[in-house]
Amino acid sequence: MTDFLVIVALAALGAAVVGLPAAPAVRALRRRSVALSLFAVAALAVAAMAAGTVAVAQAMFLSGHDLGVVMAVVAVSGVVSLAAALLFGRRIAAGSRELARSARTVGSEGGFVAPGEPPTAELAALSRALEETSGRLAEARERERALDASRRELIAGISHDLRTPLAGLRAMAEALEDGVAEDTARYHARMRVEVDRLAAMVDDLFELSRIQAGALALTLSRVSVYDLVDDALAGARPLARASGVRLVDGGVVPLPVRVDAQQITRVLGNLLVNAIRATPEDGTVAVSAYRAEGRVVLAVEDGCGGIPAADLARVFDTGWRGGPARTPRAGGADGGGGAGLGLAIVRGIAEAHEGRATVRNTGAGCRFEVELPEAGPARAG
Ligand SMILES: Nc1ncnc2c1ncn2[C@@H]1O[C@H](COP(=O)(O)OP(=O)(O)OP(=O)(O)O)[C@@H](O)[C@H]1O
Ligand SMILES: [Mg+2]
Repeated sequence: MTDFLVIVALAALGAAVVGLPAAPAVRALRRRSVALSLFAVAALAVAAMAAGTVAVAQAMFLSGHDLGVVMAVVAVSGVVSLAAALLFGRRIAAGSRELARSARTVGSEGGFVAPGEPPTAELAALSRALEETSGRLAEARERERALDASRRELIAGISHDLRTPLAGLRAMAEALEDGVAEDTARYHARMRVEVDRLAAMVDDLFELSRIQAGALALTLSRVSVYDLVDDALAGARPLARASGVRLVDGGVVPLPVRVDAQQITRVLGNLLVNAIRATPEDGTVAVSAYRAEGRVVLAVEDGCGGIPAADLARVFDTGWRGGPARTPRAGGADGGGGAGLGLAIVRGIAEAHEGRATVRNTGAGCRFEVELPEAGPARAG
């Protein structure tokens, strides 16, 4: 037993005598190629083994012949392990180089092209991570592109919408200036309507840009949805009357909500104007408010005949508007179809309140719902 311990101690000593001075060299190679590092580690292992063997052989007074045999075995296995380390290291280095080349394709048009088969699990994981990053980048770029396109479309649409009333205003102003307008009072009234429309459009644009910039400052207060609906209905009644559409109470439960009353009145106003515009004469638009799953739901249901399924997902998009066939009152009682901003504002305001806005067809028409969080119990005082 003691003999055995002595052998172990001698082998360790021999290995330490060679290994300790070599350790800094291995450390210095840390930042060099992995092939070189592997080779150095294998060389260190072989040298330590040889030194340990020599130390043990000396102490045990092994014959020169026996030592020669042992050293020959050590030398052969050393050569084999060094060759294996070199080969393996070169494979890892080549795999790393290939992955580095592939990594340059992250963010390119074609996307990341993963190398054939990475030589180690770590490189394979890195390759997968790069693939995921590349996928996310492509998605972000696609979103950016879509956003850019819709922004361009919106600007084109708005410019067109602004140009039409402006041209009308200029024509009317010129007619008044030249004294060729017969019914000047009618001209003035018409100009007033156009200016109001322009102002409303600019106001919507401003509101939307604030919402999209996240700069909408809400003034929250505890109000009853009953009052909110009442205010919105009062605002929509003249348009409904002029359009021959009945506004009906579909059941409004007086639930408390903590919202920016002005903004939610605007939401309801936008929904009501849309519903009235989309409903044919003699049709009805119903407003309701109720509690569902701990949320307060405000719903506006119209008689538009349904929105085509393909359009349902787009109605809330900024600047999107349906064709004239679906808006019976375009150019009618309220001075025509809008700029496609109303529902984007509805959704933006709902989301700013941590709520959401949705739409679905109901058969005779469609139903827009705005979900808001219910106000907690009133605080005393
Ligand atoms: N209640 C509804 N019934 C049927 N279609 C609707 C209804 N509300 C909106 N839509 C369709 O969705 C489109 C987008 O509505 P949105 O309110 O965003 O814009 P708009 O009413 O056209 O213009 P704006 O609201 O800016 O004056 C409308 O053009 C219309 O085609
Ligand atoms: Mg609208």
